[in-house]
Amino acid sequence: MNPAEAIPAPRAPIWWHNLQFWRNPLTFMETLHRDYGDIVAISPKHIFIFSADYNQQALNNAQQFHTVKVPFPTPPNSALARLFTIPGQMNGPENRHQRQIMLTTLHQKYYDRYYQGIVQVITHHLATWRVGQTRDMLPEMNQITLKTPCQAIFDLDPDGEGQQVVKLIEAWGDTLIASNTTLFPFNLKGLPYHHLLRISEQLETEYTRLIQRQRARGLPSEAPLSYLIEQYDEKHLTWAELIGQMNNLFNAGNTSRAAVLAWTLFLISQHPDFLGMVQAELRRNVAGNIPTAAELANLPLLEAAIKETMRLLPPVSWFSRTVMADTQLGDYPIANGTTIICSPFVIQRHPDIYPQPHRFWPERWLTTTPNIYAYLPFGAGPRACVGSNLALFEMKLVLAMILQQYQLTPPAQAVINSTGVMVSMPQAMPLELWPREVPFIKRSVRGNIHESVNLA
Ligand code: HEM
Repeated sequence: MNPAEAIPAPRAPIWWHNLQFWRNPLTFMETLHRDYGDIVAISPKHIFIFSADYNQQALNNAQQFHTVKVPFPTPPNSALARLFTIPGQMNGPENRHQRQIMLTTLHQKYYDRYYQGIVQVITHHLATWRVGQTRDMLPEMNQITLKTPCQAIFDLDPDGEGQQVVKLIEAWGDTLIASNTTLFPFNLKGLPYHHLLRISEQLETEYTRLIQRQRARGLPSEAPLSYLIEQYDEKHLTWAELIGQMNNLFNAGNTSRAAVLAWTLFLISQHPDFLGMVQAELRRNVAGNIPTAAELANLPLLEAAIKETMRLLPPVSWFSRTVMADTQLGDYPIANGTTIICSPFVIQRHPDIYPQPHRFWPERWLTTTPNIYAYLPFGAGPRACVGSNLALFEMKLVLAMILQQYQLTPPAQAVINSTGVMVSMPQAMPLELWPREVPFIKRSVRGNIHESVNLA
């Protein structure tokens, strides 16, 4: 008997499901869950899981459930392969070793430095904003999240010496998430995959230059890059691993952080009462200044707004595992080689766990602590995101600095659509900048956002 046969399964062929998934993964996954329940096989070797219990079984067992490689070839000895020598692409002891090194790089002891760097980037960026302007918050936030690792982790002015690396990272990230890179992974001039291979070479050259620059500065001990280079010198990292670590630090979660920031500003704009409460919290605790790291830790409503945004609109709406040996999920036998897809988007809308799941209701986080396998914006278990604390720290700082200066609202009749297969994000997020003092009025919007969020 085919091992996955007992699992509820829709009748359509796999190519049809693939098509629906690539067209709109969120609707596709929600419909599967609604029609078939917590575990669904779209083919004997492709299974979606939608409950905290199944998530725990798959995510907690890193030995038997391996992470999936990127969906295009990374030719051996290529710059692209070295840029992908990162913890998320490894399994077993290799993963644990690389995770540990990255966790040390992201350790609290460097936070003073991260704080200074992030504040510098935001201050510089916000200096160009003026009351009355309408700005698309997606590219605005993208610029901030691209530049902060450059300044904060690598101590490199993103508008000066770091300009080239920031430009390359932006181009690399855009090419990576373009669906044509995955659909046509051929090294032919004109195709995005060819472009990806070329940019990867340029990026590695740039990283090599930064390593030489750091050596010339005498490897200052307070810099995380010095720590990475020392790990390489002491043979705890290979060259490919050093390049992979640098690439991960420059790149990880850039688009995700930008998407969360843009969505949070938007969702707050649709909830004037909550906006008033956050503004009051900021006035009470920060009083118009740039918040210190200690003050940031004491902004429960702002933190709740980010958590709630990541619940409703998680940038990583799905991720997957490959089963390494015949096993079970609950009562169902699962064959070796099966792909398991886990969805933060679906589990985070479960009405038994999150009452009124389609509403933006940040206050729920002041009293709720869900099971960690039912709240997965950063994954869970031994492979959970290593950058979650830094990402939250940065996002709170950005929002606190913006919301202390402005009230933001979409222009009349704005269209707000959610898009993206690899990373879910707004197509565009135009928001007007209003002074903080004027009475705030909610402006309704059009667009497919109404399919995912109840904005009534
Ligand atoms: C809002 C921002 C971010 C989001 C939503 C996010 C989300 C995630 C998720 C869902 C996973 C788990 C994937 C899986 O289980 O297959 C993950 C893993 C990972 N994240 Fe993040 N991430 C963010 C920011 C960052 C940052 C800033 C860094 C580093 C500076 C980072 C580094 C990593 C690494 C290294 C892994 C792989 C861990 C492993 O496989 O052992 N992430 N992230």
